[in-house]
Amino acid sequence: GNTTLSSGYILALDLGTTGNRAFVFNADGKIVGQAYKELTQYYPQPGWLEHDPEQIWQDTCWVIKTAIANAKIAPSAIAALGLTVQRETCLIWDKTTGKPIHRAIVWQDRRTAPLCHQLQEQGYADEIYDRTGLIIDAYFSATKLRWLLDNFTDVDLNNVLAGTIDTWVLWNLTGGKVHATDHSNASRTMLMNLKTCEWDENLLKLFQIPAHILPQIQPSLGVFGVTDATLLGAEIPITAILGDQQAALFGHGCDRPGLMKCTYGTGSFLVAHTGNQIVRSHHQLISTVGWTQANSKDTLDVGYALEGSMFTSGACIQWLRDRLKLIKTAGETEAMANQVKDNGGVYFVPAFSGLGAPYWDMSARGAFFGITASVQPEHLVRAVLEAIAYQVLEVVQAINASSSTPVGRLTVDGGACENNFLMQFQADVLGIPVERPIMRDTTVQGAAFAAGLAVGFWESYEALVEQRQIERVFEPRSDFSLSNFGTWQKAVKRTLAWEE
Ligand code: G3P
Repeated sequence: GNTTLSSGYILALDLGTTGNRAFVFNADGKIVGQAYKELTQYYPQPGWLEHDPEQIWQDTCWVIKTAIANAKIAPSAIAALGLTVQRETCLIWDKTTGKPIHRAIVWQDRRTAPLCHQLQEQGYADEIYDRTGLIIDAYFSATKLRWLLDNFTDVDLNNVLAGTIDTWVLWNLTGGKVHATDHSNASRTMLMNLKTCEWDENLLKLFQIPAHILPQIQPSLGVFGVTDATLLGAEIPITAILGDQQAALFGHGCDRPGLMKCTYGTGSFLVAHTGNQIVRSHHQLISTVGWTQANSKDTLDVGYALEGSMFTSGACIQWLRDRLKLIKTAGETEAMANQVKDNGGVYFVPAFSGLGAPYWDMSARGAFFGITASVQPEHLVRAVLEAIAYQVLEVVQAINASSSTPVGRLTVDGGACENNFLMQFQADVLGIPVERPIMRDTTVQGAAFAAGLAVGFWESYEALVEQRQIERVFEPRSDFSLSNFGTWQKAVKRTLAWEE
């Protein structure tokens, strides 16, 4: 175990879809300072979503400085920095001025659906699945980068850099010195070969992405560079980069086959570790990199994962709050759902950005079904929460279909796991216990664990994971009937191909 504790601190950044956060952890793994800032969402057209990369960078600086100030520590006391980010979202910037050529295209953005349909029609689905583990969808970065290059034809390709959010922020943190990414983020671009863990020449050719604008792919745990001295007055080593879902997987201690987690963030992401082997579900789940690390023989240890990506979950609750104005806070949804005895016949399909696993339909759009004159706001809220749980049920069914041992329990994290109605309903529909840890920010915790372990600040991953405690286990109720699930699936079918 970690009996002799190091002095000093670990700084972890979680740059997510809805906001950016920084946490300072002490050697005991306790949080001693934190800061959060919500991120502006730009919707230039229905189905499009952009982020301002300069705002991401400015807010990153602000949360870092605020968290350090809250922790009342000197930046020089920080032993390492771990970075975890929303995945797939990408941009291209001018390497001389440091200015993006356009706002970042967010993972939820559907603008490249026509290009994806074209690739499907041309018969590329099998080859792309074979090379990358991914299903052709506007979700992944490749078509987004293609869109940027197609729409900004006057950019000097010798003077630009491309990257996902980790790459953009790493480049800025290092004062423009390091242009790199890690294998977990690279595995979401649809340009990395899942077997070789390198950029795939055939795919670069297919998408016409010049290799020299792409970052160098490095192990998730390892030294990427140091923060520029002018930023904090200290050169802090950046020693871990992970996609946010992979960081949560790491934080939960899911480091081998049989272990999985579900994060309820903007979307819901159920990720199962599959060991050092690529496991293919052929049931509409994607195969991806969990995390990588160089071993003592200086070769790469790769942990792979199977993932069910559900694009919209917490985002629906935000929509109820900010657009429909049915609620003032996300927390109210729990009481509202409990105020009605059932969903009143209302079903919701959360296809704001099309549907991910297991449908992969870019053209689906959201809908409420079964509205009658007796429907109250509480029914709508309840239908939204039920839909979040039904989506996860479908993904668990897909995982069960591709494995000999059925999922026995589900470990959760993320904003919406605060909702007791949702977690109980989740356990009921799955028919298995749902386990909620005390520490809900597993993503940022995973980034901290990874950064600290990579630099020898902590020695034992097992000891860190053992410190995590379960706050509550939601047991499935034996008298629960799953009869509404079929009706919900019928509703989902009606939303498919809506935009076609
Ligand atoms: O693939 C998208 C995912 O990384 C976004 O995560 O937590 O920002 O919803 P989150």
